Amino acid sequence: MKDFSFYAPTEVVFGEKSEEQVARLVKKYGGKKVLVHYGGQSAIRSGLLVKIINQLQEAGIDFVKLGGVVPNPRLSLAQKGIELCRQKGIDFILAVGGGSVIDSAKCIAYGVPYKGNVWDFYLGKEKATKMLPVAAVLTIPAAGSEMSESSVITNEEGDVKLGYSNNLSRPKFAIMNPRRTFTLPPYQTAAGVTDMMMHTMERYFTKDDDMDLTTDLAEAMLRSMKNAVFAVLKNPEDYRYRAQIMWGGSLMHNGLTGCGVDEDWATHQLEHELSGMFDVTHGAGLAAIWPSWARYVMHENLRRFVRFAVNVMDVPNDFTNPEGTALKGIEAMERFYHAIGMPINIKELIGRDITDAEIKEMTRKCSRDGKSTCGGLKVLEAKDMQAIYQMARG
Ligand code: NZQ
Ligand code: ZN
Repeated sequence: MKDFSFYAPTEVVFGEKSEEQVARLVKKYGGKKVLVHYGGQSAIRSGLLVKIINQLQEAGIDFVKLGGVVPNPRLSLAQKGIELCRQKGIDFILAVGGGSVIDSAKCIAYGVPYKGNVWDFYLGKEKATKMLPVAAVLTIPAAGSEMSESSVITNEEGDVKLGYSNNLSRPKFAIMNPRRTFTLPPYQTAAGVTDMMMHTMERYFTKDDDMDLTTDLAEAMLRSMKNAVFAVLKNPEDYRYRAQIMWGGSLMHNGLTGCGVDEDWATHQLEHELSGMFDVTHGAGLAAIWPSWARYVMHENLRRFVRFAVNVMDVPNDFTNPEGTALKGIEAMERFYHAIGMPINIKELIGRDITDAEIKEMTRKCSRDGKSTCGGLKVLEAKDMQAIYQMARG
């Protein structure tokens, strides 16, 4: 078993009345002048933004608003946010939205006290030693950023999407009201569940086989999400299952399902090039890559793929043919993706054939010009990345 450190400092306030605690929590964590950061229209349309602003006003907390975060959040808006925070003397950032808004908030928070270009952190040139505190009012369960240490930003110059992880960025608090997720369109709901399941699958498919507690937890969460997504696609206002998905999104990416095991993350790395280049929804991009990745690497730990097939995908175990059982598990996952409206290859994802030149470019970026590898179960070099993109082209 691998040594580990589990750090999940975020105060989670969950339930229908959770939003009423925004001002109290901002004060508790020291916010005096707040940047309220949000996305396009959803938080305005639902009345959530006004509700939060009214509370801040009533509590005498000064604030400035900055909206306009788009999915696959852009560096340029974060840079605008950094300037705004400096001008206005902001000391706390409240993200109202999903992973994109929270990640943009984290990027701004890194940038305010830093003299250089905040992109340095994402390029791995610098490590942040201080940042403004960030908190979240979550409206879409998916990325898990409300408890995670990561932030993923797209630099429009070159369409490069990079993540930066630092424990400092774990939000101070996360407010989660499942009722707010009733308005999510089916595609976003399904892509969100795909993403959160993948956060656990990236930790599940490892060489380690000896941390049964972590593995059992992971399988239980994967099964729960698989059931819950069908319930909410059928009835978007099913509070019980919306709640389980919302809590699941946090638990599946706050580190719990990685305790004691090596992690992989190749599917995420490969996907970031897809959403960087084609601006597709991250969760859908993962579904387009995973089946090909799985077939490419499954012999590195066939037992694990058999276990997944049987315990998560309900495939009967053919003890005489472990490879066949493992493959049936991957096929069952493909059927699951299709059943919830997700693609299983790049053609289905982007609606056309991907070109050889595009595959070459994604391989170049993912391998940092051939200098970098990704993945843990099988360490992927540039040639492996290219082979997986080829298999996934559809
Ligand atoms: O902009 P608005 O109008 O708010 O619409 C959003 C957006 O179009 C909409 N939405 C959000 N809440 C809604 C709603 N629509 C109706 N009702 C609601 N209650 O949903 C759309 C997607 O929002 P977004 O924030 O982009 O979704 P998600 O949470 O999936 O975040 C995706 C981003 O997170 C990154 C991804 O790469 C991607 O850029 N990730 C971040 C991670 C992290 N920080 O730990 C880990 C992940 O692996 C992931 O890479
Ligand atoms: Zn993800």
